[in-house]
Amino acid sequence: MTQSDIKRVILITGTASGIGAACARRLASPETALVLTTRSNQADMETVARECRDMGAEVSTITADLTDPDAAKTLVDHAIQTHGRLDQIVSNAGRGDKRRFGAFDSNDLRQAFDLNTVPFLELVNCAAPHLERSDRGRIVFISSFVTYNVGVNDTIFPLTAASKAATEGLASTLAYQLASSGITVNGVAPGYTRKEGGHAAISPEAWEAAAKATPSGRIAEPADIAAAVAFFLSAEASHVTGQILRVDGGLSLV
Ligand SMILES: NC(=O)c1ccc[n+]([C@@H]2O[C@H](COP(=O)([O-])OP(=O)(O)OC[C@H]3O[C@@H](n4cnc5c(N)ncnc54)[C@H](OP(=O)(O)O)[C@@H]3O)[C@@H](O)[C@H]2O)c1
Repeated sequence: MTQSDIKRVILITGTASGIGAACARRLASPETALVLTTRSNQADMETVARECRDMGAEVSTITADLTDPDAAKTLVDHAIQTHGRLDQIVSNAGRGDKRRFGAFDSNDLRQAFDLNTVPFLELVNCAAPHLERSDRGRIVFISSFVTYNVGVNDTIFPLTAASKAATEGLASTLAYQLASSGITVNGVAPGYTRKEGGHAAISPEAWEAAAKATPSGRIAEPADIAAAVAFFLSAEASHVTGQILRVDGGLSLV
């Protein structure tokens, strides 16, 4: 069996909607096996899974709450038992929180880290031995513009900014540590990105204002973010590691 006969097995978190679902659709092909996971919205995830199967991908699905300490091991074990290998992970699941100082406490900060930071570390710890056996070992995570662009439309996301910045710190040091193994570690930092059914953290008016504040004049589509993720996972990106690619229509230039 040659390497080209082997399906690349990719684990993607948060695939019921938005960016994770777009990543699944973007990566689905006869050359890929996708492990899709979400917390509880199994119905929408299964719809995404069917679309990916129609594109020729082998697909399995599993629900897990990533704030559960055993979740990462469960997901990686599932990938190995179901598909026989694991080549790449996309740590996407997370959430934005625009509570201002005075409206959150240290417990809220811990919860933000429990979702936006700790699962990245747990997934890496569980998956790294498998990724090391691959010739396309890749780790990609989804960061956020809120770490760089503070106060767009007078909105701040302190909890999200802190937890995503921490993940960026883990990722850059991990990229250095894993570089000689051939595994690359990169992040994509989206600007405001369309959400199905609106954005719990942002009002429709603020959403319009976000598009106006973005130099390109529009917010991102989830597919814009998925395209950047696909690049980092590609064979062509084998010499790119430790990078954060901002996909934000120029928001970071303002
Ligand atoms: N949309 C934006 O404007 C924007 C901007 C910058 C960065 N981002 C980042 O992009 C990533 C995806 O955002 P999105 O807008 O595509 O979000 P989304 O449409 O709300 O989807 C979030 C996904 O993450 C899952 N998830 C949430 N909490 C989880 C948990 N505790 N355990 C397991 N899965 C969980 C959700 O599962 P269930 O639905 O099953 O609960 C869902 O599948 C996030 O990391 C976010 O911070 C988004």
